[in-house]
Amino acid sequence: MNFILMGLPGAGKGTQAEKIVEKYSIPHISTGDMFRAAIKEGTELGIKAKSFMDQGNLVPDEVTIGIVRERLGKDDCSKGFLLDGFPRTVAQAEALQQILTDLDRKLDAVLNIEVNPEILLARLTGRRICKNCGATYHLIFNPPAQEGICDKCGGELYQRSDDNEETVGNRLEVNIEQSKPLLDFYLKLDLVKTVNGEQEMDAVFADIDAMIRG
Ligand code: AP5
Ligand code: ZN
Repeated sequence: MNFILMGLPGAGKGTQAEKIVEKYSIPHISTGDMFRAAIKEGTELGIKAKSFMDQGNLVPDEVTIGIVRERLGKDDCSKGFLLDGFPRTVAQAEALQQILTDLDRKLDAVLNIEVNPEILLARLTGRRICKNCGATYHLIFNPPAQEGICDKCGGELYQRSDDNEETVGNRLEVNIEQSKPLLDFYLKLDLVKTVNGEQEMDAVFADIDAMIRG
């Protein structure tokens, strides 16, 4: 079970990844989450990544590829993995092919969550995340029972620093530009399975689950 979850910012990668890893018990490898953890810890990687992320730009390929190579080499990935938000450029996709060849593994599918970009601005600016457990909410589409408090653990909800309107605009632009050649790369390899990400969250998961079961 070696999967990539692909989609523009706000398409629902993190939301669906939570459901997939819960059901299939494979590690969730999100480069965005790895960078945010590094920023929180104040590591060299975090310092490097922060300036790019704050602007909504991509972290340079050589940095990103390095952390994924290291992560995929860990024991817990031996039974499978779910990559979320990586690759994002053709250079990253090519590097991933090499990493997997070196590990004697291959991709099963690229799950592509498709959402009209016009919807994404509202999804991103309304997103709130639990400080404690990382669960994702939305002020309108998936509100917690009590404002500002996580349903699952009672933790405080916060807004990601790159979810303000200004940064979101550039993030979407940058990612839209990269997305077409990336999708073409995997279409040529006949690995793409596209799901309509504009449906309600559980319906998106039902479609993804059916694709995984093949
Ligand atoms: P990353 O953390 O990966 O962010 P992203 O790609 O911008 O994606 P998001 O996490 O914003 O969106 P998502 O698709 O997970 O949506 P979610 O499920 O939360 O990357 C952040 C930054 O790190 C990048 O900008 C870059 O700088 C750097 N980076 C990361 N990877 C990199 C790479 N490979 N190369 C270079 N740089 C890299 O949903 C969004 C909201 O919508 C939520 O509020 C949710 O509740 C709601 N929602 C979800 N699904 C639905 C639905 N079906 N209906 C209604 N609402 C929904
Ligand atoms: Zn929580």
